[in-house]
Amino acid sequence: MKKILFAASEGNPFIKTGGLADVVGALPKYLDSKKFDVRVILPKYLCIPETDRKKLSKVTEFYADMPRGKEYIGIYKAKEDEITYYFIDNEYYFAGDNPYHEIFEDVNKFAFYSRAVLAALPEMDFCPDIIHCHDWQTALIPVFLKEFYKNNPFYQNMRTIITIHNQKFQGRWRIDDIENCRDLPENCRYKAMEAYHETNFLKAGILYADQVTTVSETYAQEIQFPAGGEGLEGVMRQASDKLSGIVNGIDYQEYNPMTDTKLAVPFGLRNITQKKKNKEALQKELGLRQDHSVMLIGMVSRMTEQKGFDLVNYVMEEMLNTMNIQVAVLGTGENRFEESFRYFASKYPDQISATVGYSEERAHRIYGGVDAFLMPSQFEPCGLSQLISMRYGTVPIVRETGGLKDTVEAYNEIWQTGTGFSFANYDAKEMLMIIRYAYDVFQNHPKEWRAMMKRCMKADHSWQNSAKKYEKMYLKLA
Ligand code: ADP
Ligand code: GLC
Repeated sequence: MKKILFAASEGNPFIKTGGLADVVGALPKYLDSKKFDVRVILPKYLCIPETDRKKLSKVTEFYADMPRGKEYIGIYKAKEDEITYYFIDNEYYFAGDNPYHEIFEDVNKFAFYSRAVLAALPEMDFCPDIIHCHDWQTALIPVFLKEFYKNNPFYQNMRTIITIHNQKFQGRWRIDDIENCRDLPENCRYKAMEAYHETNFLKAGILYADQVTTVSETYAQEIQFPAGGEGLEGVMRQASDKLSGIVNGIDYQEYNPMTDTKLAVPFGLRNITQKKKNKEALQKELGLRQDHSVMLIGMVSRMTEQKGFDLVNYVMEEMLNTMNIQVAVLGTGENRFEESFRYFASKYPDQISATVGYSEERAHRIYGGVDAFLMPSQFEPCGLSQLISMRYGTVPIVRETGGLKDTVEAYNEIWQTGTGFSFANYDAKEMLMIIRYAYDVFQNHPKEWRAMMKRCMKADHSWQNSAKKYEKMYLKLA
């Protein structure tokens, strides 16, 4: 039995701001429990909802030597879907109403967290063969492990993997200002951890980890070149012999249109016509004109440049004025995008609904009720929303980048194949052209559209295949 510890800054259902939490909450369940004892460790944020906080029980507490002196570390535990979750407690670091704050606070917070995870292992009585780290917040675990624990027998055989969910976020700050890194050797702080005269957690993690993965094959290529490397393309190329891409899946238990209690009417492949009732209910819920002939397009997303909101803003009015289209948006993020959607919604109340906020319930009802899902990302390491959409018979319209390219097969009207519509360049007019094409198929070729919905629902984007690839990597490494 190999022991694997997932270390991350968020995990469903305890704390979620995006797809990272989905992956951390789902993948452990799909690894073979006869061969792997997989556990997860998260920060015990004060903002974890009360209902979930109640599930935690205290394991122990202790004080560890840190650059600021002796610091408190509490360890809590909970079981969720047969997976053991540990939580690191320290209210000095993990207070606030959001897991993330200003970057200058976060770098110190997650440096503490990474140290605390390693210090806690003997107290948890869990000696993992592999620590599987996720994103920059846990990227210093391989660094602290190699710098501080290499001669300690308890830690000697531990191996590390870092999975990059988004290379744009690297954990950068002024080298001398990060208190919780101060005792690392000079050549580490000023060399391996340094990029462009700053500390760079992700760069350090990539260099120190035994394996590096990212969440799709295309993204694994893209990050080795200037257009996608976010300044770390050279480091990625240097690490290319230990870098691979494993595409994400989605949790088929959580996202299942046949059993989803959040939907107005559950439906499956056999009674796909019932999806209409979800569209009706959604139009009613959102105050949109109730009309079947309209093509209802959904977006559930962080409202940032990454997700292509610039393009959407640019052509929104043209889209609404030239086609019988409605748009349902759910998201939070940059003020300028939130404001522009509020504006569109007030100008076109029959055609646009904008929910500025976060709601799992409404997200499910959008995935279940809309005809098409728009995701014109500038870049996309994997993307889960397009996978969830397909599972609910909703046809994705995406830009061909990263995981979107790997998971959505473009519609071919001659061969009658494909699971969505895609365009190549980050260009608003190109996007509009492909939306018009999708609109034409939706309005004028309903049989073909229905067949595509079915292909979407049949496509397998569960975790099964990718979980096998992770298992293979664990066995090779451990
Ligand atoms: P990213 O992690 O880059 O934000 P993904 O497509 O990988 O993008 O995952 C986003 C996840 O977060 C999906 O599960 C999506 O449904 C969910 N999500 C994003 N915004 C919201 C929101 N405002 N309310 C509810 N769920 C949301
Ligand atoms: C990141 C990426 C997204 C990916 C998710 C989970 O948030 O932006 O593309 O699906 O992580 O890996």
